[in-house]
Amino acid sequence: MGITYIPEEQLFKLDTPNTTYCIGVIDREGFLGHAYYGRRIDNIQGMSALMRIYENPMTPETNARDRLSFLDCFPAEYSAHGVGDYRESSIRVRSAGGHSAVLLTYVSHEIYQGKRRLEGLPATFGDESEVTTLAITCRDAVLGLRAVLEYSVFEDTDAIARSVRFYNDGDGPIYLEKAMSACLDMDNRDFDMLTLHGSWARERHMDRRRVSHGKHAVSSLRGEPGHQEHPFMALLEHTATQTRGDVYGFSLVYSGNFRMQAEMNQFGSVRITAGIEPEDFSWKLTSGESFQTPEVILVYSGEGLGGMSRTYHDLYRKHLIRSPYRNKKRPILINNWEATYFDFNEEKLLDIAREASKLGIEMLVMDDGWFGNRYDDNRALGDWQVNEEKLKGGLKKLVDGVNALGMEFGMWFEPEMISPESKLYQEHPDWAIAIPGRVPGLARNQYVLDISRKEVRDCIMGQMFEVLHSANIKYVKWDMNRPLSDLGSAALEADRQGELYHRYVLGMYEMQERLLAEFPELLLENCSGGGARFDPGMLYYSPQIWCSDDTDALERLAIQEGTALIYPLSAMGAHVSVCPNHAVGRNTPFETRGYVALAGTFGYELDITKLSQEDKDMVSRQTAMYHRFNDLVREGDYYRIASWQDNHLYDCFQVVSKDKGESLVFYVQVLGEPNQHGRILQLQGLDENAEYRLYEADMQGDTEEITQDTGRVCSGQLLQNGGMLVERLWGDFRAKLIWLKRQ
Ligand code: GLA
Repeated sequence: MGITYIPEEQLFKLDTPNTTYCIGVIDREGFLGHAYYGRRIDNIQGMSALMRIYENPMTPETNARDRLSFLDCFPAEYSAHGVGDYRESSIRVRSAGGHSAVLLTYVSHEIYQGKRRLEGLPATFGDESEVTTLAITCRDAVLGLRAVLEYSVFEDTDAIARSVRFYNDGDGPIYLEKAMSACLDMDNRDFDMLTLHGSWARERHMDRRRVSHGKHAVSSLRGEPGHQEHPFMALLEHTATQTRGDVYGFSLVYSGNFRMQAEMNQFGSVRITAGIEPEDFSWKLTSGESFQTPEVILVYSGEGLGGMSRTYHDLYRKHLIRSPYRNKKRPILINNWEATYFDFNEEKLLDIAREASKLGIEMLVMDDGWFGNRYDDNRALGDWQVNEEKLKGGLKKLVDGVNALGMEFGMWFEPEMISPESKLYQEHPDWAIAIPGRVPGLARNQYVLDISRKEVRDCIMGQMFEVLHSANIKYVKWDMNRPLSDLGSAALEADRQGELYHRYVLGMYEMQERLLAEFPELLLENCSGGGARFDPGMLYYSPQIWCSDDTDALERLAIQEGTALIYPLSAMGAHVSVCPNHAVGRNTPFETRGYVALAGTFGYELDITKLSQEDKDMVSRQTAMYHRFNDLVREGDYYRIASWQDNHLYDCFQVVSKDKGESLVFYVQVLGEPNQHGRILQLQGLDENAEYRLYEADMQGDTEEITQDTGRVCSGQLLQNGGMLVERLWGDFRAKLIWLKRQ
């Protein structure tokens, strides 16, 4: 395994347990070509033919007359700009002479154990026994621009991390106007493209369509990924399913503007490019300076989408999330947002905590509204001092009171924002992102702070630290409730204004890094108006991210299905809330809401003092259920069995422990059908040679026991091939949780 260079063929061979990736160097000219990515091949003799360099139009060296036709069909490893490859380029510059062309060719390479950190950026990691890295140095001699293409392969996971670092070796400045993280050329194999699309309160729904000629892209110009599109794309065979077919995933570890694109050209070849959105991007590289792109994670699965998802889950759990909580149960929390919105005081919070503590809830999270004169969402962002009119006696008194109930305490911040009506804005109006002479657009009546500036970051972090040091605070919810617009920084020179989007993201990463350095044991949950910044970059800082402001069980099934395509269930912030649901007005059973939230981090977002006794009894059982099953949900393998978005009737997914000793099957009958019979579900991931005993979760029983033995014992072989019968349920939105235990 690992990476080898085969000099006879001038090929680099990158192996993971089940996949192979090959890069070729073309003769003396040094074009870098993509030869292969897919199922593992041990003997790659003859592989270089796959770059078609023996066919016409040959290489420019052998056929200088047709250099353009060579470049326009050669499978490039990192595509050139402006020299005759008319497909999507990976890089574009503005040189001292005003030219945009770039052609990077091979100079040298290095293979080393381990993986270096990407300066200022989140990235996957692994030690010398876990990761091998190939660094290929290329150069454009005309520009004096050097690029190091890095590829890291993981010993235990079928994933490859790619990124690029640029160096200006010339005398004058070079402006990078486009700097993608990766490019990949493949022949079209009847590919579909799968992306995640959404809106506020309905994030990350799956969107699958045919790849046809031309360019197909998803992107963001919001300064964050946004609710609308997601920094992920998969190309998969048209016939691929959850369990079968070739799937290629591309997931960008970045939390700002992005573009993921597939382009099918005249020869039926598909070029994928992924990285920072080039529009509104420009980076001045002065002599001797370097620029680091974010990394993109490539995953190939020969076993359908399910295989791809499980690889991303394993990689992100093991090689991206750093939090001390990554392998730990998180405290069951109750958040007061939907319970009170801005209308709370310390008594109300203590009432909630008192009731919650009796039912097994372990942490109270105080949401928006505790600071400055924040009585509604029109003011006070930037003034991070406790409002003692609301919290009489101060924060410490409240936190001590909550701690005395045996509960922990957490709180909400929105550090990147500033309200026009705030002390901070009065003192520093130029700290808001704005273009001189243009009134910047408000969203939720707030502006965005220019956190590309160190003094702005220092001021906000200083305020946060003071609050967090003043009491026993174990958790922070870091929110960001509007996208960026009207990009302008009072601190940047004219020819660096194009750097602001990226500098903003770097500033935000630096702030989160500082927070974690100051409070290493803190449980951080990221959030952005729900799930607008749910991306791998943020997972590097927080082990969990609030999935969506929509907590309706049914909508959540769709959101969590799309999210679980890439991210482990342990990362998905999921809570039980009241009905009619605040985002959609739907009524669903309390039991179903509980099961759906148990498939995430689990918690509550309601006024528990107002729940009926029946629901309170169920809370006790749900919290017990969390403790029983969270290890399995957090660390197990995820299998998608059915999707109500496809069949319009029912949803089913499964988590199986790594040793296959137990499994939890989540089943929701979304719509009841008249004259319907029991449903047979073909399970996955089990030990075919073992027998499993089936238990059903019992949320209303008279005994303390939360699971009931059904008396049924079935072989893994039967459950996977024949299937498991779920009896007919009466009504809509009804759910069942079935636990399988190996005998
Ligand atoms: C965002 C979050 C919510 C809540 C509010 C507070 O919308 O997603 O959970 O914290 O902000 O203003």
